[in-house]
Amino acid sequence: MMIDQLQRLYTSGYEFHSFAMSIVIHADCFEWMSTIPEESVHAIVTDPPYGVKEYDPDQLEKRANGNGGVWRIPPSFDGHRRSPLPRFTALNHKERNRIRQFFSEWAELVLRVLRPGGHIFLASNALLSQMVFTAVADSGFEFRGQVIRLVKTLRGGDRPKNAEKEFPQVCTMPRGCHEPWGIFRKPIPGGMTVSDCLKKFQTGGLRRKPDGKPFEDVIESERTPRREREIAKHPSLKPQSFLRQIVHASLPLGEGVVVDPFMGSGSTVAAAEALGYPCIGVERYEEYYVMSRQAIPVLASLHTREAQLSLSLT
Ligand SMILES: C[S@@+](CC[C@H](N)C(=O)[O-])C[C@H]1O[C@@H](n2cnc3c(N)ncnc32)[C@H](O)[C@@H]1O
Repeated sequence: MMIDQLQRLYTSGYEFHSFAMSIVIHADCFEWMSTIPEESVHAIVTDPPYGVKEYDPDQLEKRANGNGGVWRIPPSFDGHRRSPLPRFTALNHKERNRIRQFFSEWAELVLRVLRPGGHIFLASNALLSQMVFTAVADSGFEFRGQVIRLVKTLRGGDRPKNAEKEFPQVCTMPRGCHEPWGIFRKPIPGGMTVSDCLKKFQTGGLRRKPDGKPFEDVIESERTPRREREIAKHPSLKPQSFLRQIVHASLPLGEGVVVDPFMGSGSTVAAAEALGYPCIGVERYEEYYVMSRQAIPVLASLHTREAQLSLSLT
C-alpha cells in the first residue's frame, strides 16, 4: 500500500507523521481503531502496557520524578544502577480485573479491523501472560502458541528481602530468562482453507525465514543494545534484532499493512521500515509520539547481526 493511501485511510483528523513506508499517529488506539476501515489490517505486532497501570499518566509522572508509584528501582547489580521496572507482583484484585477488561475490549476492537486469518503478536510477561492471553482468546481469537524470546530480564531471582543472610539458598521467584509473545489468529471463515485465505486476504499463515525454514517459536535474543536505547529513550524499547524477525513473520506473503497500536517510541515501525513493509504506529503519550518521529529512521537504518543472519539483510 502506498503512503498516500495509508494517510487517506488511517489518519482521519489525527496528528500524524509519515516515513518512507509508514506513518505514526498521535491517538488513543481504542478510539483510533473504532474509526478505521473494517478488515483492513493484515497483522498486529505490539508490546502493550503489560499491567496497563504503568503507562497511566499519573504513574509516568511519578516515574519521571523518581517518586514511587508502580515503577521501582531494582537492587543494584554488579555495581550498576538499574532502570526502574514496573512491579507486577503488587497488582491487586481490582487491578487484575482492569487488565482483563482492558485486553478484552482491545481484542474486540482488533477483531473488527483485522482481516480474517490475520495474526496478532502480543508481547507479555511471565507473570501476566496467562491472564492476558485468556482475555484475548475469549474475545474470539484462536490462540496459536507463543514465541519465547530468550532474554535475561533481571527480574526475580532475589533472596528473601531483609533475610538474605538467613536464607542464602532461597530465591523468592525464578530469575526471568524469557519474554512470552502470544500468537493469535482471527478465525479463517468457515469452509475456507489457508490457501483460500492467502489468496483472498493475504493472511492465514506466517512467513517462512528467507532461507525457506519455518518461522520458529523460540528466538535467542538480547537485552536492547545501548546504541538503540540512546536513540530512543523509552523504558520498554525492544531490540531491532528481535522485532525484525517477528514483523517479517507477520505477513505471510510480505504484502499488507502491519499495525502497532501501542507503539511507544516506534521500534516495531522501525523494524517494518527496515524490511520495506508498510506500518502504522499509534501512541497516546505525546512525549513518546514526538520521540518516535526522530527515532524511527535512525533505528531503521541500523544493521543488526541477528537480523542479518536470519533475514539475510545487507
Ligand atoms: C510497553 S510500551 C511500548 C514500547 C515500544 N515497544 C518501544 O519499543 O518503544 C507501551 C506504550 O503504549 C502506550 N499506550 C498505553 N495506552 C495506550 C492507548 N490506549 N493508546 C495508544 N498508546 C497507548 C504507552 O504510552 C507506551 O508508550
